[in-house]
Amino acid sequence: MKFISTENMRSLVSMPEAITAMRSIFGELSSGKSIMPVRSVSTFGEMMLLYKPSYSPINNYAAVKLLTQVESNPTRGLPMIQGLVFLMDSTNGNLLAMMDGKFITALRTGAASGLATEVLSRPDSTIAAIFGAGVQGATQLEAVCAVRPIKKAYIFDLNAKAAEAYAQQQSEKLGIHVYVAESLDVLREADVICTATGARAPLFQASQLKPNVHINAIGSFRPHMQELPPEWVSSAKIYVDHVESCLAETGDLLIPISKGLMTRQHILGEIGEVVNGTLDGRMSPNEKTLFKSVGVAVQDLAAAALVYEKALAQGCGTEVTL
Ligand SMILES: NC(=O)c1ccc[n+]([C@@H]2O[C@H](COP(=O)([O-])OP(=O)(O)OC[C@H]3O[C@@H](n4cnc5c(N)ncnc54)[C@H](O)[C@@H]3O)[C@@H](O)[C@H]2O)c1
Repeated sequence: MKFISTENMRSLVSMPEAITAMRSIFGELSSGKSIMPVRSVSTFGEMMLLYKPSYSPINNYAAVKLLTQVESNPTRGLPMIQGLVFLMDSTNGNLLAMMDGKFITALRTGAASGLATEVLSRPDSTIAAIFGAGVQGATQLEAVCAVRPIKKAYIFDLNAKAAEAYAQQQSEKLGIHVYVAESLDVLREADVICTATGARAPLFQASQLKPNVHINAIGSFRPHMQELPPEWVSSAKIYVDHVESCLAETGDLLIPISKGLMTRQHILGEIGEVVNGTLDGRMSPNEKTLFKSVGVAVQDLAAAALVYEKALAQGCGTEVTL
């Protein structure tokens, strides 16, 4: 089995490659080719333990991601999400690779929003706004910049120091102007918004947005978690990563449904259906579009397989014998 370090992964895989990998796996998922039981979440004290298995018949890969999430970890100077991904050969059960689950999660979550931005946002989108200057917030902006000619971005975070550090690091890394947002008024400028926080109430009001904005909302993955105003959600064209998982897990859809503002039928379908050409994406520059993701196991499989294949090709990683 190969152990592939986070440092190796950083140099092996680019965001555009990860977006391409998400394109194929979401297409497979929506056409019923890959198998993905709904994930199991156990709560042990303050820690949540997530177990996410998946299988893709295309290259005979199986994967499992084990993640821990402790919401107060940032106050201890620790990452909220930690874990491991194991990649296996489904023909013989061999363990092929083991890698950092935190890196894979950030890569594939960013790449999914990149894919959604590519198929749903206006091609002339130049201004982005990101909520959450954390681990996901960084790959969200990187992915949006990979598919749209973004020149300027605003970062919102409750933690002013985190926002300042993000603005400096992402400006340097991406070669665009990233500003710490002083007020929600700047949202009027944003063509693409990504929400990547643990918020439990809407981060802004519908009236503060551009009428034809595209939003990638990735933060809410429990029924009590909410980042978006329900009246905006019910008036947008809604696409998701996986219908069943989103309807089981996210307050961003369950709250507007429980308030009677919309029904399940309001969700147009999955991003994989758009990729497969069985569902229309954005049809005009005037529409408002939402990609809501809770994160699904096949994304981890696709990202891990991409990393593994590139590591094999470039002779990277350390062979580990159990
Ligand atoms: N959809 C997916 O596939 C997916 C994948 C990974 C993580 N997530 C979720 O995304 C969220 C962010 O994860 P992360 O790993 O980046 O966490 P993180 O702790 O690294 O960053 C979160 C940031 O959001 C900020 N924040 C929290 N509440 C806020 C608010 N109301 N307004 C503005 N900023 C606020 C925090 O200060 C922090 O800087 C979590 O809820 C996580 O569960 C979703």
